[in-house]
Amino acid sequence: MTQARKVHVKSFGCQMNVYDSHRMADTLAPAGYAETLEPSDADLVILNTCHIREKAAEKLYSEIGRMRALKEAAAAQGRKMLIAVAGCVAQAQGDEIIKRARAVDLVIGSQSYHRLPGMVARAFAGERVVDTEFPIEDKFDALAPPAREAIRRRGVSSFVTVQEGCDKFCTFCVVPYTRGAETSRPVDKIVAEVERLVANGVREVTLIGQNVNAYHGPGPDGSAWGLARLLRRVSEIPGLLRLRYTTSHPRDMSDDLIAAHAELPALMPFVHLPVQSGSDRILAAMNRRHTRADYLSLVARLRRARADIALSSDFIVGFPGESEADFRATLSLVEEVGFAGAFSFMYSARPGTPAADMDNQVPPQVKAERLQRLQAAIARGQRAFNAGFAGRTIDVLLEKPGRLAGQLVGRSPYLQAVQVMAPRALIGSVVSVTITEIGSNSLFGELAGATERIAVGA
Ligand code: SAH
Ligand code: SF4
Ligand code: F3S
Repeated sequence: MTQARKVHVKSFGCQMNVYDSHRMADTLAPAGYAETLEPSDADLVILNTCHIREKAAEKLYSEIGRMRALKEAAAAQGRKMLIAVAGCVAQAQGDEIIKRARAVDLVIGSQSYHRLPGMVARAFAGERVVDTEFPIEDKFDALAPPAREAIRRRGVSSFVTVQEGCDKFCTFCVVPYTRGAETSRPVDKIVAEVERLVANGVREVTLIGQNVNAYHGPGPDGSAWGLARLLRRVSEIPGLLRLRYTTSHPRDMSDDLIAAHAELPALMPFVHLPVQSGSDRILAAMNRRHTRADYLSLVARLRRARADIALSSDFIVGFPGESEADFRATLSLVEEVGFAGAFSFMYSARPGTPAADMDNQVPPQVKAERLQRLQAAIARGQRAFNAGFAGRTIDVLLEKPGRLAGQLVGRSPYLQAVQVMAPRALIGSVVSVTITEIGSNSLFGELAGATERIAVGA
């Protein structure tokens, strides 16, 4: 092992980046890097960036400014600190970052993380390194698995990337350019990874991908497996209590996947299904390739398979050409579906995407006003959904210490945060909790009687 060094990875954007950040730290561990939560301690800071909206991308430069100050402070003490930029901004604007930000030593695109140790060594030797290729080899194969101790530190609920990239080309979106074409990991690799996580205390796994339900990885029999088949296989892993998947595209919500919700007790009754708009005209201009009616019919089929299924979504307001009538169609869709929650964003023109060049852009103040109205409607729906839980007893997977001493926080099957007074030994258990109070961001409850329904430890 080389000299002990410290790495700090800061993640922006989606869950894919959270997963990648962990894997970058795992891959540097055998080269002698310990993870630190404190950037001022670090010999290497990695900013894992997001390019999805303009604001997200701008964050990078203010963050580089902050890190440059730490780098200069370290240099004043005779210590060398490197700044690396990874993720989707790195992929989209690698050369520009190196030119514009002198403090950056290393730029690494989203598909090159397995090459990190070699690149970091070159950067420590004084070179400024850029790698934004889409290599043919599979980065996941070459990334180091997490150490047991790292798995335990990260908690009882874990993400596992099973699919990456996107071929859908929605007209507003950068992901097909920053993450490349759709690829799926092999079933046996995913199963082995989940088994290792579960053997080290993980109790809930969320299979993730930009289009997770387009998953079509090679199965052990050589044929391509869909997501439903993968979920069935993963749900058989002993000791795994809960299974989730995200993010899905309405086009790829197959009958088989809907049926899995009726079949698999471990598969949680919560689906994040972005719709973006309630107007068919806008959906067509977005190239979403589904209509409002398609979406509503999917929701109905999911609810037929599992009556208590909760739904969440993503929305964009102010897409080019969106009229007040189009926007009202979005509001009415929100009312009609009754989402448990949703994310909503003002349309942000992204360079290189078709919608950025459409000439009927919506003025910023109109977007802001629509966003406010949409968020009010979503919040009403969320309050109504949560209010239905008062007095009910539900299963909660306890994840970590809560805000108050003696309190733990966990998740309901519907992904609500639940705060409950409970001994720390119950972290990692699914317990019955009676909901006593509905807060704005979480539910509060009490352990219900003989609670430990499922023992800790596989
Ligand atoms: N793969 C997922 C979403 C990926 S991006 C899907 O197909 O739905 C996450 C969310 O960011 C999107 O659902 C969309 O609501 C939002 N988003 C993407 N590009 C955007 C843009 N240019 N402006 C505003 N919001 C955007
Ligand atoms: Fe972007 Fe559309 Fe692909 Fe989702 S499906 S990642 S919104 S292009
Ligand atoms: Fe952002 Fe890239 Fe994820 S652009 S949302 S970090 S795929």
